[in-house]
Amino acid sequence: MIKLGTTKELLSNPSILDRLYFLDHHFFPQPWTKEQWVELVESDDSLLALVYDSKNIEIAGFALFGLNAYDELAHLYKISIQPKNQGEGLSSLLLNEAFLWLSAAMIKRVFLEVSVHNDVALGLYKKLGFEILSIKKKFYSNSDDAYAMQRSIVGSLSS
Ligand SMILES: CC(C)(COP(=O)(O)OP(=O)(O)OC[C@H]1O[C@@H](n2cnc3c(N)ncnc32)[C@H](O)[C@@H]1OP(=O)(O)O)[C@@H](O)C(=O)NCCC(=O)NCCS
Repeated sequence: MIKLGTTKELLSNPSILDRLYFLDHHFFPQPWTKEQWVELVESDDSLLALVYDSKNIEIAGFALFGLNAYDELAHLYKISIQPKNQGEGLSSLLLNEAFLWLSAAMIKRVFLEVSVHNDVALGLYKKLGFEILSIKKKFYSNSDDAYAMQRSIVGSLSS
């Protein structure tokens, strides 16, 4: 099951907020503080996409986007699937559903940064049609470089 909504809608549920904070801290390379997560509860300019495990019992992963309606742009801040559910196609499913939601919200492009060393995420993004725009030197706090990548979501939603 996939659930989509603004962070204001979904993170006002404390059990969802706690679960995402847990997933972020345990499985994401650059986790945010609890304060940063709580700030999102007030945000309308965001899309949160949740994916549940096959029994629909627990949230297996999430994708979080910031939205810039003026530039018709979404920024993928984070995507994370817990290790026991990786390789099951959940992130592809999650992102394709999110692209449909974003398209309906008149968003035309999705932008992201990814570590040049994150081969799994790079494979995912290339498979979904993202293209490298540039390299951001020492983008991460550990000095790793990042690729800036972009994908149009106009007229290409089946890829
Ligand atoms: C990156 C991540 C979100 C992928 O999620 P996932 O649900 O396992 O990915 P999927 O099963 O949908 O696989 C999609 C594609 O990713 C790539 N991929 C997945 N697992 C891979 C692996 N072990 N090695 C190489 N590529 C892999 C493949 O291109 C795959 O497509 P394919 O199955 O058609 O070959 C997940 O590994 C994760 O949460 N990693 C930790 C957090 C992170 O690094 N997030 C991205 C930061 S920018």
